[in-house]
Amino acid sequence: MCGIVGYIGKRQAAPILLEGLKKLEYRGYDSAGLAVRAEGGGVSVVKTKGRLSRLCEETADGARLAGTCGIGHTRWATHGEPSEENAHPHKCMDGSVTVVHNGILENYRELREKLTRKGYVFYSQTDTEVIADLIDYYFKKYRSGPVDAIARFMSRARGSYALAVLFSGYEDIYVARKDSPMIIGAGRGEHFIASDVPAILKYTKRVFYIDNGELARVGREDVAFFNIDREPVEKQSVKVTLDENAAEKGGYEHFMIKEIHEQPSTVELTLNAYLSGGAVDFSECNVDDGFLRADAIVVVACGSAYHAGMTLQYVAERLARIPVRVELASEFRYRDPILAKNTLVVAISQSGETADTLAAVREAKARGARTLAVVNVRGSSIAREADRTLYTFAGPEIAVATTKAYSAQLVAGYLLSLEWGRLAGRLTAAQIAEYVAELRTLPQKIKDILEHKEDIQKFAAEHATASDVFMIGRGVDYTVCLEGALKLKEVSYIHTEAYAAGELKHGTISLIEEGTVVFGVMTQGGVLEKTASNLEETRSRGAYTVTLSFAGEKIAADAEVALTVPRTDELFAASLAVIPLQLLGYYMSLQRGLDVDKPRNLAKSVTVE
Ligand code: F6R
Repeated sequence: MCGIVGYIGKRQAAPILLEGLKKLEYRGYDSAGLAVRAEGGGVSVVKTKGRLSRLCEETADGARLAGTCGIGHTRWATHGEPSEENAHPHKCMDGSVTVVHNGILENYRELREKLTRKGYVFYSQTDTEVIADLIDYYFKKYRSGPVDAIARFMSRARGSYALAVLFSGYEDIYVARKDSPMIIGAGRGEHFIASDVPAILKYTKRVFYIDNGELARVGREDVAFFNIDREPVEKQSVKVTLDENAAEKGGYEHFMIKEIHEQPSTVELTLNAYLSGGAVDFSECNVDDGFLRADAIVVVACGSAYHAGMTLQYVAERLARIPVRVELASEFRYRDPILAKNTLVVAISQSGETADTLAAVREAKARGARTLAVVNVRGSSIAREADRTLYTFAGPEIAVATTKAYSAQLVAGYLLSLEWGRLAGRLTAAQIAEYVAELRTLPQKIKDILEHKEDIQKFAAEHATASDVFMIGRGVDYTVCLEGALKLKEVSYIHTEAYAAGELKHGTISLIEEGTVVFGVMTQGGVLEKTASNLEETRSRGAYTVTLSFAGEKIAADAEVALTVPRTDELFAASLAVIPLQLLGYYMSLQRGLDVDKPRNLAKSVTVE
């Protein structure tokens, strides 16, 4: 949600900033801007509304902004409509402080009023302009330098922020962070600032993680860190292992289809990381039996990660007979949740930065629960704040709609379920080895599905004008419907509803009319016939029905189209059944001429509430 970059060194800053923003555009794409300090001179700002390509045009790919120090921003609007005026960077009233910001300043109205009383006049509707002016106010009032002015701002600010700030008369870039991600990359005689590692991988793999509530002065040769009391903080850089090419399209037309195709390897890598022979082994993450053994599990997550949590619930309860509750992190954090003694709270998040999930982890910890994060991005806030972290191995996920990270989350859920089953004395080593052997077949089976993707492409071409789609299923199939429906909605903008098949006739069936497309996901043996009947009920009311089942399964329902995936253990069916639905979202979006990697109104990594 909003991307920040910064550069200070010997090279021209603007092209490097634009390069970095391209890598971060998935975080927001309604406007963008750069601020570059001319050698020994003032700070020039260029901002454009719309996609980053407009800023590249406006600055001739950065050539029009000379200088070796600068900051940049790609925006996902929170306060104020997308416009050139509201785009970042923002300057304070007399232009001496320039700021880019990711996050939300919650008390910005109150601070804006205070500043208005002090004579400040505002040109935008943003909270960020208030930040620039407040820092300027403290800077001029106390005259004790940039670090002090920013620290005073931090003491007054409520909400979340990652800030990069330029001050007139000071060479360096100043940064601060609270609940919004930011890293600093270290090169030779140069430093980089970014919301996310892929933005700087081309230049360096050495990064400093700046912690919550800390600030830093970033110079050409050195970086100095401070806590909010302005005391120096010692920090070592760490080497990141990400491959630069992992964040490129690699010959695919879009990131989403590239990432869909990466799923066999994502699943395999995540399995390899935590399997040793026929058993699960989490020792690398320091997750031992004592930590995992729990009387109850509560999963907190948002969006697709929540859907992965729903699947985990069905699988874990079946294998371990431990009660599992899955909660939307945004609800959990404010509803005064009851956590029984010896509850393990599992937070699932691709980015590790989702504000609600992070807050849910904090809430769980405050209530004395143990917290385990299932996270994809190394060193992210949730990974650092949870007691233990199981990393998934999806690599950088750039498309806004998640695919491969969700698949990796499913795998983490299966492995955890097997461990809980073992700890509960419900699974023998031999049974676990059998499940593990089946899990190891998933990558090849996903490849097999992808080899037949043209079937889905053809279906999408025929149904791209559909205005309503329903997806129904029971048990694990219902969780697949939730994820499939989200994919279709977010990238193709087709109204899609996922329904537990048995629930349809308690109201929603009144929406079924002639030609409404209804998918019946049917992989769960015990409830196959039930879902088949529910699908029939829609067909007899005019629906155009599609079944999605294991190859070779006899389905007791007539349908216009029958899609299949290779057979696997029912518990792991989500990993296969979701693939055709991801492809459906992708191809429907293409058919409708939409920007599949950057759907309207969305942003990856939701760091605001
Ligand atoms: C949907 C999607 C979102 C995320 C959700 C949580 O395709 O990507 O629903 O799953 O915003 O994000 P993370 O996993 O980063 O916490």
